[in-house]
Amino acid sequence: MEAIENITKRYSALKLTDPAPDQAALEQMMEAANRAPDHGRLRPWRFIALRGEARDRFGDVLVETLKKRNPDVIDTMVDRERAKPMRAPLILVAVAKTQESKKIPEIEQIVAVGAATQNVMLAAHAMGYGAMWRTGDSAYDDGVKKALGLDPKDTIVGYVYLGTAAVPGMPPKGMEEVPVLSEWTGPAA
Ligand SMILES: Cc1cc2nc3c(=O)[nH]c(=O)nc-3n(C[C@H](O)[C@H](O)[C@H](O)COP(=O)(O)O)c2cc1C
Repeated sequence: MEAIENITKRYSALKLTDPAPDQAALEQMMEAANRAPDHGRLRPWRFIALRGEARDRFGDVLVETLKKRNPDVIDTMVDRERAKPMRAPLILVAVAKTQESKKIPEIEQIVAVGAATQNVMLAAHAMGYGAMWRTGDSAYDDGVKKALGLDPKDTIVGYVYLGTAAVPGMPPKGMEEVPVLSEWTGPAA
């Protein structure tokens, strides 16, 4: 796929099935991540792959931590939470491991991880795979971070669901009405 078409035609895949990106594809995706703009070249991004039965175990973690956050949670919500990791054959947990730095504020490091994550998604798309970036309350839960071997001060920037798109994506509507580009010619009055 042409690079510009890959970017301008990208959409999120709402339903994902096998095949997931194989090891060679994953390595290319990590190569793409490593070319994200990154102030100070701190390389704050980490990607944790969850697949196969690990997704069931992660579902258990999601339920356990959900129940701690909300002891009165109803059964349907519990079932929904447990099923989340099964929405795709592969999940990459995108993590920002930031460093204390006088020169490079944490926000810049987290934004760099966002850029790396988008590079991963675009690389997946270019190779014919589908992807969707999700978060939710669990991404901000220290219990989830602990289960993933992370530190409370690490940031889960997203869960990138990956596989093969099972249904055609929906092109965004009305974007042309949003004035995303403007021109500055001098200080505002
Ligand atoms: C940081 C971040 C977190 C997101 N979390 C969710 C989420 O939890 N659930 C969801 O449905 N979409 C989430 N999205 C949005 C989807 O990934 C997607 O971009 C959106 O549904 C629009 O679809 P499109 O990418 O095809 O334009 C998130 C996006 C970002 C950048």
